[in-house]
Amino acid sequence: MATVPTSTATADLKSHLAQVFAQYPIEIAHGEGVWLHARDGRKILDFYGGHAVAGLGYGHPRWLAALERQARQMAFQTNALPMAVRERAAARLAKFAGLGLDTVFWINSGAEANENALKLAFKITGRSKAVALVQGWHGRTAAAGAVTWGAHEKWYGFPRLPFDVSFVPRDDPAAVEQFVDADTAAVIVEPVQGVGGAYDVGKPMLQALRQRCDDVGAFLIFDEVQCGMGRTGAPFAANFYGVTPDLLSAAKALGNGFPVSALLVSRRVAAQIKYDDMGTTFGGGPMACAVAEAVIDTIESESLLANVRTVSTYIRSNCVIGPVTGTQGAGFLLGLKTSRPAKEVQAALLERNILTGTSGDPHILRLLPAYILNEGHVDRLCDALAKIPA
Ligand SMILES: Cc1ncc(COP(=O)(O)O)c(C=O)c1O
Repeated sequence: MATVPTSTATADLKSHLAQVFAQYPIEIAHGEGVWLHARDGRKILDFYGGHAVAGLGYGHPRWLAALERQARQMAFQTNALPMAVRERAAARLAKFAGLGLDTVFWINSGAEANENALKLAFKITGRSKAVALVQGWHGRTAAAGAVTWGAHEKWYGFPRLPFDVSFVPRDDPAAVEQFVDADTAAVIVEPVQGVGGAYDVGKPMLQALRQRCDDVGAFLIFDEVQCGMGRTGAPFAANFYGVTPDLLSAAKALGNGFPVSALLVSRRVAAQIKYDDMGTTFGGGPMACAVAEAVIDTIESESLLANVRTVSTYIRSNCVIGPVTGTQGAGFLLGLKTSRPAKEVQAALLERNILTGTSGDPHILRLLPAYILNEGHVDRLCDALAKIPA
């Protein structure tokens, strides 16, 4: 029998963390609004928002107050015991979305929301296949990874996929018909792809997917883990494009840093969900729900959707400068097209104390700032870009 090597010399390790993440050369001590304060004293302007999570920025007083209030009142309770905050947050989220997806299932991460969305689609239709888009990203779990472009070649790990998957080109509405057929349980799509390069899939493609799903009786799932919760300047990208899915997954900015995700489903789907079809321990925890409620409250009361729209337009008009040749994406999920590899531009910006992201597209610099970003912050980015050779 093969033996698994073990090590007792843990004290020799430089870090006890699994070495799976490339690391930026800054150690963060604390954050405030759109600013990061590094241990070495640097103050860094954050255009990356903790990978699209910090929609309200760091340390927002309403977010902190909601966390503290709920922690004192009841930090955690099982879904088997009804709690008003859970009900209230679900109603608030459904109303914020305004899409008629009025049933909410709370979970903890983006992948988990997509995993459940796919499971429901397979369970309800009894079909065998999912369709996803080229360059789409949906998470690291078995089903979410199966519909993630390139995962199988790079990191998937499981010996086989749990269902058949095909990938439709992201810019070809005419091709949809040949990929989505009567065996298709679900089509899953990020309306604005994140990892794929802040790429706006666009209304014609989304409409073609909606139409074809209706024609063959498949479910349309919008993965709005990254592009949802106000990031496009609308509550969800579904509102932004005027195309409504059957299921929608939300996470990241929903909790502004407290882990929470949600699956929103249509009445047609909800009518077919039975007890025990889904489950979770931490999903729907009172702190997660209190935070989600506070995030929506803040987005609405501080008119942050309007701010995203205004400042996004300002970025698009002013930041095509230095190595930036154009823009793509929507709202605050923006891609700056770069003449040089985006990684080089990112490193040059970080030397000037501005944090940005990259993506699966080597010539796209990804911006995912907090919704409180203003034009003065953008001016700093433009000035820095102007100093970087094209
Ligand atoms: C569009 C999209 N879907 C799903 C996920 C997975 O979310 P999580 O890491 O919370 O599981 C991500 C994460 O980056 C994402 O961008």
